[in-house]
Amino acid sequence: MTTKPSDAPWADEPFGLITTPSMYLTDSHSYLRLASDMAHAHNVLIRGLNAILQQAPHVAVSTKKNYNKQDIKDLLFYVHSWTKTVDHHHWVEETFIFGEIEKVSGKPGLMAEPKSQHEAFHGGIERLSAYASATKPDEFQWEGPGGMKEIIDSFSQHLTDHLYAEIDTILGLKFMDSQALNNIWDQAEKVAQQAGNLGMLYDVFPCVLGCADKTYEVGYQFPPLPWIMPYLVKYWFGAGNGAWRFNPCDWWGKPRPLAFNAQSASASML
Ligand SMILES: [Fe+2]
Repeated sequence: MTTKPSDAPWADEPFGLITTPSMYLTDSHSYLRLASDMAHAHNVLIRGLNAILQQAPHVAVSTKKNYNKQDIKDLLFYVHSWTKTVDHHHWVEETFIFGEIEKVSGKPGLMAEPKSQHEAFHGGIERLSAYASATKPDEFQWEGPGGMKEIIDSFSQHLTDHLYAEIDTILGLKFMDSQALNNIWDQAEKVAQQAGNLGMLYDVFPCVLGCADKTYEVGYQFPPLPWIMPYLVKYWFGAGNGAWRFNPCDWWGKPRPLAFNAQSASASML
């Protein structure tokens, strides 16, 4: 179930969102909390990817009459921010969560599968990050050889397959001690915050806030950030940055129509 704001295409496609496990399972064991939180984190990444795929084709490139350099600059910044968000998520998993789960469960290699799945898309994310940070607006291409779509298409299926599969892996952790697993998750939140830097307030945080649909399914409160954060991003860290027009939700997690669409593209041609 999704809460798209209108009948127009939105960030719940082409890659489908993950159903929160707590919607169809009931269990006081912490594996369910972990799987549900992870589903929300993964849906943030999927909405960001979908928002790019849905809107980038409607941003005019430099050979088009309605070309607007700033729109391309903003799109590139948005895509770069999304790659940083994906990287940060997987960095926390690889450097802390996976190792802790293997250690506490006493099963080395238990998380080998998601680790190897990371490798299947990591190079593609790197290429996209390099393209988004080094490409000049006049040179930007969405379609065609060497364009951004080609880079995204090279890894998007691997990435989303992994984002779906990891939820099943976590749902298989019921054999672990519930409290120990819960502690790993609590610590992971601290690791994620400590590994953060001030720069992330200008790119990763606005991307996460704008891709976290708080009305999704049961209105789950994700991400676990202080109440003041949306205000800080709106009025300070994200203020004046047109890249955030590409976000599919407002700063408070309310879905909104995509800013760049078939109608906006044809209107700007007039
Ligand atoms: Fe994950």
